[in-house]
Amino acid sequence: MATIGIFDSGSGGLSVYRELVKVLPKERYVYFSDNAHCPYGEKTAEYIQDRARAITDILLGMGADIIVVACNTATAAAIATLRTEYPEVPFIGMEPAVKPAALGTKSGVIGVLATAGTLKGSKYLKTRGLYEDDVKIVEHVGQGFVELVEGGILDGPKAESVVRASLQPLLDAGADTIVLGCTHYPFLRPVIEKLAGPGVKVIDPAPAVARQTVRVLQERGIETGQGPFSVDLYFSGEPESLRRIFALV
Ligand code: DGL
Repeated sequence: MATIGIFDSGSGGLSVYRELVKVLPKERYVYFSDNAHCPYGEKTAEYIQDRARAITDILLGMGADIIVVACNTATAAAIATLRTEYPEVPFIGMEPAVKPAALGTKSGVIGVLATAGTLKGSKYLKTRGLYEDDVKIVEHVGQGFVELVEGGILDGPKAESVVRASLQPLLDAGADTIVLGCTHYPFLRPVIEKLAGPGVKVIDPAPAVARQTVRVLQERGIETGQGPFSVDLYFSGEPESLRRIFALV
């Protein structure tokens, strides 16, 4: 049985957790929501690196064999630092799914929704650079999306008006594919799909990240599949937001 540590600024990483348990159903999961410091989106890279180090120490203290940075913003700001400072620990990061979007678009325009931190990160800019000669890539910060999810507002008029404000510019630019570049956003997927309409495809990278976790565990020779399954939830702030989203996954 592997112990899989997962962290995010809040409940968003549960969108990755729910894909992990599909492919690794018999492991021990330890999830850390850093909701006392959420959102990460507008914080400095140094701040996020400090948080990522502190949380890594906690997860390793709980016996994590692998750490899934289930947060695009923390991946952009801190995963390189974590890999340097903890060379023996396997880290899995998030990446906006620009490649499948670029390969699948028919209109030639893809839209990326992510936090400001992710969109200005060198990892994203590099990926973007690989595809921007072939397709038009338009971006928008999902303004207020993280707050909606942490507040448990996943549908209804308020969720729709907040989502519309950031989604509409991408649709207006002709995007037929929307990349969810923040792990909180999949919890708003029904609203995004409703507003975007049936002609628009929405891509969540979490299933690919879960498959990558399986590959890395195998490469490292970390035994899986023995059970028993368990999951423990930890948080640095209040417990309700995480409990609410956990009940949905
Ligand atoms: N869930 C996050 C991400 O994937 C962080 C959002 C935030 O805290 O701003 O980027």
